[in-house]
Amino acid sequence: MAWDDAAWRRIAERGVHAALSGWTDERSIATTERFGAHNYHPLPVNIVRARGALAWDASGREFVDCVGAYSAMAHGHLAEALVREAKAQLERATLVSRAFYTPEMALFLEALAEYSGLDMVCPMNTGAEAVETCLKLARKWAYTVKGVPEDQAEIVVCENNFHGRTTTIVGFSTEQRYRRFFGPYGPGFRTIPFGDAEALEAAIGPCTAAFLAEPIQAEAGVIVPPPGYLARVREICTRHRVLLIWDEVQTGFCRTGRRFGWSHEDARPDLMAVGKALGGGLLPVSAAVGVRGAMEVFEPGDHGSTFGGNPLACAVAVAAMAVMEAEDYAGRAERSGAFLREAFERAGGCAVREIRGRGLLLGVEFAPELSPDRLQEAFLAEGLLTKETRSRTFRFAPPIATEQPVLERIAERFEAAVRRAAGSV
Ligand SMILES: Cc1ncc(COP(=O)(O)O)c(C=O)c1O
Repeated sequence: MAWDDAAWRRIAERGVHAALSGWTDERSIATTERFGAHNYHPLPVNIVRARGALAWDASGREFVDCVGAYSAMAHGHLAEALVREAKAQLERATLVSRAFYTPEMALFLEALAEYSGLDMVCPMNTGAEAVETCLKLARKWAYTVKGVPEDQAEIVVCENNFHGRTTTIVGFSTEQRYRRFFGPYGPGFRTIPFGDAEALEAAIGPCTAAFLAEPIQAEAGVIVPPPGYLARVREICTRHRVLLIWDEVQTGFCRTGRRFGWSHEDARPDLMAVGKALGGGLLPVSAAVGVRGAMEVFEPGDHGSTFGGNPLACAVAVAAMAVMEAEDYAGRAERSGAFLREAFERAGGCAVREIRGRGLLLGVEFAPELSPDRLQEAFLAEGLLTKETRSRTFRFAPPIATEQPVLERIAERFEAAVRRAAGSV
C-alpha cells in the first residue's frame, strides 16, 4: 500500500474498512509477516469476521473456534449484551486515567471483589501485569508485614509454569524457548515440581513470601494436579505464613466448571491474578485481587497503569461477570466439557492417548504415531481451530456460551479430522 498523504486522508475520511476492501487472506498474511515481528507462528487462517463460536476468513470459509483466544473468549465473539454495554459506555467516557475517580471503576472493584470472595482489587490490563502486581504485593508484604530482611524475599514457583512474557516472569520459567537470550535474570524464585505438596513444604524457608501457581497448568499441556493438592497447598501456606497466589488468568471465570480453578477445593488464595475472560472478548482487562492484609501494603506511587481501570474496560467487565452469573457459565462449562470429552474419547479411539482438563478447558494428547503437523492440517481442513500446546496435546477451549448444535459440530469435525490425519479417508 502506498502511504502517501492521500492514503492517510482516505482512511481518516472513509474509515479502515474502506481501505481493507478487496484484501485477500494472502495479502493479510503476507503484510503481517513483512511488517510484524515474528514472535508468533500463527496458523494460516485470516479471520475477518467472528460471531459466537464461529469465525470466517476472507474467502467465506467457516471455522469453529476452539482456541477461544487461549480461553479469553468465554462469552463468544461479539456477545450481544457486552457489545451493547461497550456502545453505551462509548457515549459517556472511555479513559480518564487514575488521576480521577469514575463510577464504572468503583462498581467494577466492588463487583470483582464480591465475585472473587476477596476484599480488594488492583485493576490492570493484561494477565502478565496482573501476575507482576501479585509479585510486587507479595514482596512488599514480606518486607513490611512478615519481617523478611529487605531484598531477601523468595517466591516459590512450579516447573513448567506459564505466567506471561515479561522479563521477571520468563526469568522463572523453566521453558528454554521462553527464557533463553532474555537474561540476565534476578534472584528471588525457587522452583519445585507442580502437583507435589511435599515439595512445597520442603521449599519454604524463613524468607519465603509466597507460593505462585496455576490451578491447572494450561500452557504446559493442560496438566491437572492430583485431587487434594489445591487444599493441601492452602493449608501449608497458612501454616507457614506464606501468601498463596493462584494465577487464574486462564482458569478463572467458570472455564473449569467453577468460578475459579481453586473453587474445586477449599483453597481460597490470599492473592490471585485474573484476566482474559474478564474482558468479555472485547478488551484487555485484568486485575490482582486479594485479601485486605496483602492488598493494603500498596501506597500511592507503588504501582500503576495508564489504562488499568479505565471506565470502558470496567463497564464491559462488570457486564461480563453479570452474564456469567445470570447464564450459569460454571454449569454450562461443566456440562459442555463433559459432552466434548465423551465425544472425543469415542471418536478418537486409540489415536487419543489421554484427555486432560476440567470443564471446558480440555487438552487432547494424541498417540505418538500421529504426527502433530498432520493433525494440525487435518483440523484446519475440517474447519476446526485448535492449536498444539506441548507434547502432541491440542487444546480445546471453545467459548463457554457455545450452543449444543455447535458443540455437536465440533465433535463431528474432530472425528473427521482424526480419521483424516490417520490416513483412513
Ligand atoms: C496462566 C496464565 N497466566 C498469565 C498469562 C499471561 O496473560 P497475558 O497474555 O494477557 O499477559 C497467560 C496467558 O496465556 C496464562 O495462561
